[in-house]
Amino acid sequence: MLYTAPIAVPGAPHVIVIGNEKGGSGKTTIAMHLAVALLKQGQRVGTIDLDSNQRALTRYIENRRIWANHRRIKLEIPLHRCVRRAEGAKLDDNEAAELAAFGEAVTSLKGSLDFLVIDTPSTDTYLMRLAHLVADTLLTPVTDSFLDLGTLASTDPITHEVTGTGHYAELVCDARRRRLQFDRSHTDWVVIHNRSSARRLVRRSLAEAGTRLAFRHLGGCSERNVYRQFSASGLTVLDALDEAILGERPDRSHRLAQQEMSRLIELLRLPISERARRRAAARAEWFVSAHTPLDTGDLLADEIADPPEPAHSP
Ligand SMILES: Nc1ncnc2c1ncn2[C@@H]1O[C@H](COP(=O)(O)OP(=O)(O)OP(=O)(O)O)[C@@H](O)[C@H]1O
Ligand SMILES: [Mg+2]
Repeated sequence: MLYTAPIAVPGAPHVIVIGNEKGGSGKTTIAMHLAVALLKQGQRVGTIDLDSNQRALTRYIENRRIWANHRRIKLEIPLHRCVRRAEGAKLDDNEAAELAAFGEAVTSLKGSLDFLVIDTPSTDTYLMRLAHLVADTLLTPVTDSFLDLGTLASTDPITHEVTGTGHYAELVCDARRRRLQFDRSHTDWVVIHNRSSARRLVRRSLAEAGTRLAFRHLGGCSERNVYRQFSASGLTVLDALDEAILGERPDRSHRLAQQEMSRLIELLRLPISERARRRAAARAEWFVSAHTPLDTGDLLADEIADPPEPAHSP
């Protein structure tokens, strides 16, 4: 396998990879929500879809653009690339072509980004392994089921104690080892409960696996219709929950989903700069004030408190 990936380029964005070799665990949903959350915090965000068969993230983003035009609203949209799998007859040629395509996608985006969010397929492909090599943060959603936990760890059927390492966890451990050797960087691996029920069946086993495999695990998102419903229009639960954006009145489930997703993003402890936060706050304030009639009292008060700068002499 070719491993000369464009790793840790100085000044490169913080790379967040969403991965798990378990289909339907919520990778694409989390990738989209994370990208939008970061954009809302004033970050410059790029996204890469490595699942070129399904193109689920690519379609999600396209839907968002179409929905924004349809409703005549402004929605944050990341810079996006989809990297295709090579399908030639020779494995080496395919890997070389995929490495080049991945490198091109990263290079075409990285100069102007703070964060790069990469969505991966649930199958073990060369592109998916490359992504795991460049991850600064790796997010792995798991559903609340012992069958699904199997990609991370095997468990005793009676005591639920961890008895071995799952195949995806082995892939991650290998990628982390290589990354450490390559540039002494540490990948922060975070496992997220997704589609969980109140009981959280796998919680104890997951905690034990986390100690063995060195990942953090966070309570993430409950099973909610709203996640399925929103993907059709490219919306996320982090978008403003008003009728102009949703096209309907928000309900309680929307609000609960927004709260749980915001809490999850906070717990990830991503390196978001204060400057970007201020940029986002100023932009939000501008949006509000742009729709409010000017108050002449405020205007005069501003002028008195903040007189115009004297002109510079040449
Ligand atoms: N918390 C949730 N509650 C309810 N439905 C969810 C939740 N998270 C994701 N889904 C839905 O589950 C399905 C699978 O989610 P998603 O496509 O994000 O998973 P994935 O891991 O990317 O799948 P794949 O492995 O096929 O790429 C989608 O229909 C999505 O809308
Ligand atoms: Mg997906």
